[in-house]
Formats: sequence, structure tokens, C-alpha cells
Amino acid sequence: MGKKLKFGIVGCGGIYTWAHYYAYENNENVEVVAFCDIKIEKAYASAEKLGVDKSHCYADYKEMLEKEELDAIDICTPNYLHSIVAVDALNKGIHVFCEKPDAVSTEEAKKMQDAAEKNGKVLMVMRNNRYNNYSKFLKKYIADGKMGEIYTARCGWRRRRGIPGKGGWFTTKAQSGGGPLIDLGVHMIDLCIWLMGNPTPVAVTGCTYCKFADNDAGADSEHSKFGEASAEGTFDVEDLAMGFIKFDNGACMQVEFSWASNIEREKNFIELRGTRAGASTDTTDDVFKIFTEENGTIVDIIPKLPEGGPGGHAQNIFHFVDVVNGDAKPDFEPIQGVNMVKILEAMYKSAETGKEVEL
Ligand SMILES: NC(=O)c1ccc[n+]([C@@H]2O[C@H](COP(=O)([O-])OP(=O)(O)OC[C@H]3O[C@@H](n4cnc5c(N)ncnc54)[C@H](O)[C@@H]3O)[C@@H](O)[C@H]2O)c1
Repeated sequence: MGKKLKFGIVGCGGIYTWAHYYAYENNENVEVVAFCDIKIEKAYASAEKLGVDKSHCYADYKEMLEKEELDAIDICTPNYLHSIVAVDALNKGIHVFCEKPDAVSTEEAKKMQDAAEKNGKVLMVMRNNRYNNYSKFLKKYIADGKMGEIYTARCGWRRRRGIPGKGGWFTTKAQSGGGPLIDLGVHMIDLCIWLMGNPTPVAVTGCTYCKFADNDAGADSEHSKFGEASAEGTFDVEDLAMGFIKFDNGACMQVEFSWASNIEREKNFIELRGTRAGASTDTTDDVFKIFTEENGTIVDIIPKLPEGGPGGHAQNIFHFVDVVNGDAKPDFEPIQGVNMVKILEAMYKSAETGKEVEL
């Protein structure tokens, strides 16, 4: 077991409060010693919950990095700030855990990668879906060769209604980098690529649509709780994205993400097709099946997975702590983040130009 790491939190909004917090309460390997939020009362509230004095709360993250002795920070701010805060912290010799998406442009993702390498510090970006029980089962099943060669994937997260913080930073391109593609795509595309053994993307096509900016019909799903809505705000991002990705090993992937569209209901899914077996998950309906052959006949396998335990976000943070302490090899490398942002950026470019984008 390594030493107790001193953490600072930057951004004490929805995802910190609803997910990251649970990684820090009763964590014997980590002590959260400082909190930052431009809305200082949010920093105060988060500090109080973990018994940290108000004097260690900041509205300016630079002041926090200056005044506190931190081993690591956890960035939970709007997307456009991820790379700015991460690079500043890495250059001060502080390890960085950061929420997804890695960055809002490939250039910025590379700056984060460079800063981590130059300073010899750990940079890890949230990939909480890799820690789902079905994901861990599949990773091992695939590593054992039971799916053979995986040559295609499909994935998506389609919401009928579920626009986060409408009019706030989520729907403002300058702050979010995009709509459901960058927000939800990063989760499911990463999960498929990771399960496929991290092939390198080589070409991307996509279409995006913005049809719900002025439409408030129907109840929003629970996902609308993310971010802060603003009636007077901006909505200049897509609400639906469809796309296609080709990889260097000949594999391909079809993707689909929406915050709002006229479909029956929400669906969050991946589908992998291998030469020996296929797999399909739908977390909305709690379905996980493997399609294979036994004794010369086709069979479906329904794994009975363990329930309970820490959520994916907390498990990802525990892994980061193990890596910083030298107790684990990183499962996430910054190059994976660069490749992810390349895909997203290329899909937006393809949607604009109507052409396939080579990477
Ligand atoms: N992994 C997941 O499942 C998941 C889910 C939701 C959101 N997220 C990601 O988490 C991040 C935050 O999303 P959220 O839903 O918590 O949004 P949010 O708006 O609820 O929280 C963001 C917080 O950052 C603060 N902030 C803004 N600018 C700041 C600055 N310069 N310095 C310090 N604090 C600042 C805001 O005041 C707010 O409290 C986003 O990048 C989002 O993509 C991830």
C-alpha cells in the first residue's frame, strides 16, 4: 500500500457530488485537502461533507495549486477547461485525474499528453464504463480468446429526451466542444475500442443534427440534472449524431448518440461481433448476452454478474491512485485520449463537409 495521497478537487458540481465524492469518503489511500469552484459556495459545501476547513476552498484553481501541497487533482469542470487546468497542474508536478471528454480538440489533448510525458506525471481521464461488471467480464472473455477476432462493433446512447443543462455550458459549443457525440460518444466508443484491443482509427464519417434547441415537448430524463440550465442561454451543438469509424486492422464501428430524438425510449448499448462469438449489452433494459456455438449448435449465454460494489467512477479513481502509487500498470494511456478526440473532431468535420475524414 502506498502513502496517503493529497488531492485537490477542481469543479464541485454534478458529477463530483453524485459520483466522485463516493471515491473519497472513507478512502484510506486518499485525503482530499482542498476544493475549488468558481461558485465558492459549492466548494464550501463539498469541503464540509469531507470535514475540510473553509480556508482550503478556492474560487481560482491557480491559487489552489499555488497554496496547497497537492499530489493530485481531480478535474470535474466544464469540458473546455480540462486541458487548461490539466496542463497547469502537470507543469507544477501534480498528477491529474480528469473527467471525460479528454479535451475539446486534438491539439489540446496532445498538449495534455505532452505535459504528462515532460513532467513524468500520471494523466488519466475518466473511463467509468470500462469498470461496469459486463465490461470487465467481456474484457476477460475476449482476452481468453473466446470471441476470436472482433471485426465490427456498434454502439450508442440514444435518449428520447435528456438534454443536460439546456442553455448552459453543455449546449454551448465554445464550452462543451459539442453535443451528445462528445458527451456520450466518448463513453461508448471508448468502451468498444478498449474491448477490441485499442486498434487505431484511420477514417471517420458522420452526420449531426440540431432539431430540439427550441423544442421543450415531453419530460426530460434524469440526465437533464447535469449542468445548470439557462432559459436565455445558447444551444449551438448537435442533439443527434450518427457516424462510422474505420480502424487500421480492418475493423469498423457504427455509432449513434442523441440527447433528444423521436424514438420509443432511451437505449445505451454496445454490440461486438467476433469470429467465435458476439456480445450485446443494453444497460437500459439490463440485458447482457453472448452469442456463440457449443457442440455444433448455436447458443446464447446470459452471464449472471455480481451486483453491488463501488460504481465505475469510484473504481476508476481507485485505479488512478494505484497507478500513482506504483501499485498498478495504467489501463489508460494519454494516447488513447488523443485518438478518441481525433475521432470526435473528425466526425464533426465530416458532418460539416459531407466527406469522409482520414486521420
Ligand atoms: N463520467 C460521467 O459519467 C460524467 C457524467 C456527467 C458529467 N461528466 C463530465 O464532468 C464534467 C462536469 O460536468 P457536471 O455535470 O458535473 O457539470 P456541472 O456544471 O454540474 O459542474 C461543473 C462545475 O464546475 C464549476 N466550474 C466552472 N468553471 C470553473 C472554473 N474555472 N474553476 C473551477 N470550477 C469551475 C462550476 O461552477 C460547476 O460547479 C464535464 O466535463 C462532464 O462531461 C461526466
